[in-house]
Amino acid sequence: MATETTIALPVLGEPTQAAIIGPENGRTVYVETYGCQMNVSDSEIVMGVLHANGYRPVDSADDADVILLNTCAIRDNAEKKIHDRLDALKWQKRHNRDLVVGVLGCMAERLRTSLLEKKLVDIVVGPDEYRKVPELVETALSGSKGIAVKLSRVETYDDIQPLRTEGISAWMSIMRGCDKFCTFCVVPFTRGRERSRALQSVVDEAKQLWDAGFREVTLLGQNVNSYRDDVSGYDFADLLAATARAVPQMRIRYTTSHPQDMSDKLIDTMAEHDNICKYIHLPIQSGSNRVLQLMNRTYTVEHYMQRMERIRAAMPLVAMSTDIIAGFCTETEDDHQRTLDVMRAVRYDGAYMFAYSPRENTKAWKMGDDVPDEVKSRRLQEIVDLQQTIAAEINATEVGRIHDVLVEGPSKRNASEWRGRSDTNKTVIFPHDETADYIVGDTIRTRITRSTSATLFGERVTT
Ligand code: SAH
Ligand code: SF4
Ligand code: F3S
Repeated sequence: MATETTIALPVLGEPTQAAIIGPENGRTVYVETYGCQMNVSDSEIVMGVLHANGYRPVDSADDADVILLNTCAIRDNAEKKIHDRLDALKWQKRHNRDLVVGVLGCMAERLRTSLLEKKLVDIVVGPDEYRKVPELVETALSGSKGIAVKLSRVETYDDIQPLRTEGISAWMSIMRGCDKFCTFCVVPFTRGRERSRALQSVVDEAKQLWDAGFREVTLLGQNVNSYRDDVSGYDFADLLAATARAVPQMRIRYTTSHPQDMSDKLIDTMAEHDNICKYIHLPIQSGSNRVLQLMNRTYTVEHYMQRMERIRAAMPLVAMSTDIIAGFCTETEDDHQRTLDVMRAVRYDGAYMFAYSPRENTKAWKMGDDVPDEVKSRRLQEIVDLQQTIAAEINATEVGRIHDVLVEGPSKRNASEWRGRSDTNKTVIFPHDETADYIVGDTIRTRITRSTSATLFGERVTT
């Protein structure tokens, strides 16, 4: 059964590696990241902590003394993937008895000591305990398993220097945790209560990133727009504006925002600053008010549509994406049709679409999982097909339009083409040869010449 699909957006959940060079203690570490961008950012924090303790990152599990899996627990298949990966690591441990294997992240927080029951796993560390990773690795090297899974009300890793992978785009967590408690979701349990970094530390880090050569920064949080600097009282719109002013040439993005906290002030701040990208990921989850209420999403379809109108009035060319869950408990055919109706009304540029996966200990777990798999699958497929059609139609209207494209490097498929991203977060492919006078990190103007549902193709214009 197809359980998740992405259209017209970069795919989440692909493993990524962090690589840096630093002072060494003779030990090598490899981190594999699963799940959302928060985990990508957290892996960079973990590598920052380990680097400060002398560990050297390597980009292959085969060369590592310490292998860390930074995991996701959002859906059952996310966890299955990790169990499979741990099984695959068993032979490696057989060949190297000193190998330390650690499970970090949301699955570590959710499953806790039960993960340590696996012979292979030496350490288990939850998202708020990453400062303890070096200590736990040391203990494991001396033969004892270790666990640290306490959630914190204050930890933001504000003072930790993350070790970022090379590139021009940086992730920066600005708040952690979630207080929304949507009934289907494990995040409030795996990441704990909401807390925000100080505005000044975010602004300072953005400046450092610019000086280090980064040209785009994405401010991250599970509910990024419920950010609040407790000391000064600044909200997310204030933070965005301050960051936009501090690094006026830097592209600024953010994710994920919640419809309840999508204020007029935030929308107007986005419209006001040229360097805040005109792209919003605003998960709707369902087009039925009855289902939204069961999900405890705290808004109605009418509120959502009214926010959309406000957004488009302020930023007519904004690109929008969303998350949708198919087959939540008690979802009827009529509820499902309402989701399709909302998709037709909003016309999203992209969407992450999922079949509902019941998670133990959530409120929805107790509501049951009464939509049969084949019905969920069929509804998900209808959602995916509709999204693909809409995205293709929207992208077709891009032909002839000019976009400023941040150059990211060679395209994966063809050596004579490079790729970049538009302000609206769409991938643009364009011809490239040795006469090109731009480099990675430059912004160039391109005219779109053709498109698919997932990609725009363009050529450079210099006038
Ligand atoms: N904080 C973000 C979402 C983070 S999880 C927000 O509220 O928008 C990313 C997405 O995974 C969610 O938006 C939801 O669509 C999906 N998701 C979360 N729990 C799920 C579950 N139990 N089954 C299926 N999809 C789920
Ligand atoms: Fe999960 Fe809802 Fe929080 Fe998003 S807002 S992380 S879906 S509980
Ligand atoms: Fe997964 Fe945790 Fe992110 S459950 S989606 S890694 S916050």
